[in-house]
Amino acid sequence: MERQNRMPGMLVIFGGTGDLTHRKLMPALYNLCMDGLLPERFTVVAVGRRDKTYEQYLGEVYKSLEQYSRNRITSACWERLKSAVRYYRMDLEDLSGYKRLADWLNELHPEGAADRIYYLAVAPEHFETIVAGLKAGHMAESGGRHSKLVIEKPFGRDLITAQKLNSRLLEVFPEENIYRIDHYLGKEMIQNIMVLRFCNLVFNRCGAAGISTTSRYRCANSRAWARGADITSSRARCATWCRTMRFRCFRWWRWSRPPA
Ligand SMILES: NC(=O)c1ccc[n+]([C@@H]2O[C@H](COP(=O)([O-])OP(=O)(O)OC[C@H]3O[C@@H](n4cnc5c(N)ncnc54)[C@H](OP(=O)(O)O)[C@@H]3O)[C@@H](O)[C@H]2O)c1
Repeated sequence: MERQNRMPGMLVIFGGTGDLTHRKLMPALYNLCMDGLLPERFTVVAVGRRDKTYEQYLGEVYKSLEQYSRNRITSACWERLKSAVRYYRMDLEDLSGYKRLADWLNELHPEGAADRIYYLAVAPEHFETIVAGLKAGHMAESGGRHSKLVIEKPFGRDLITAQKLNSRLLEVFPEENIYRIDHYLGKEMIQNIMVLRFCNLVFNRCGAAGISTTSRYRCANSRAWARGADITSSRARCATWCRTMRFRCFRWWRWSRPPA
């Protein structure tokens, strides 16, 4: 906390005009402000593709806060957040733009290096380009500051693409500065999963009765292959997903009660 107030901080949101930013990130920042947890010298840079003025962008953020913030909007906190927010327009796919962005960010805190968080609130196909752009603009280098990368789910489509993405990120950021986010892990039901599994009468009885779906799972799977299902079609993908979910539910049922 001491370092937070000493150093200027900056959150750079790639995808600053998107749904995730409006629905989750801006309300979260506003709520931090309400709780007195927003660092003193803090700037939020929203990077978007569309041409809009600073006032237009702020108007959209205000509407999102009215809709999604758990706290009522007070003029003091809104003024505080408003003074921290900037809007920057660029095409994320244009690598030459990152040097200009780097210069612009440096000008925001001329008094010294600000700790930075780069938040990728964009579709997964942009992840590698943005990280390459951060490298090209020398924005990931420390130079006396901490630079962190936050990446949203989905992290790759499968093991191979996830590993490839991981190695691209690690070429630019050290592991300890990469944060991979999946909101579902923060959901109360997931955090409370042991209680749900072992204290809920319905689930507890199902597990105790030793219900098994193993053979049914295998049959369904082999029937799909026997039909020559095209697994690239969305219908087949949906079927595969349903089977996977059934299998996960089955494994969850079979959990052993943890020792007291
Ligand atoms: N929405 C959620 O609640 C949520 C929850 C969990 C995870 N996620 C994940 O978060 C990521 C973003 O989701 P989203 O729903 O926010 O998507 P979205 O509403 O489609 O927003 C995409 C953002 O990317 C920007 N963008 C796209 N192409 C660009 C380009 N070439 N140059 C500059 N900016 C570009 C868009 O800018 P413009 O608007 O200016 O075009 C927009 O700000 C996805 O990976 C998603 O899976 C979303």
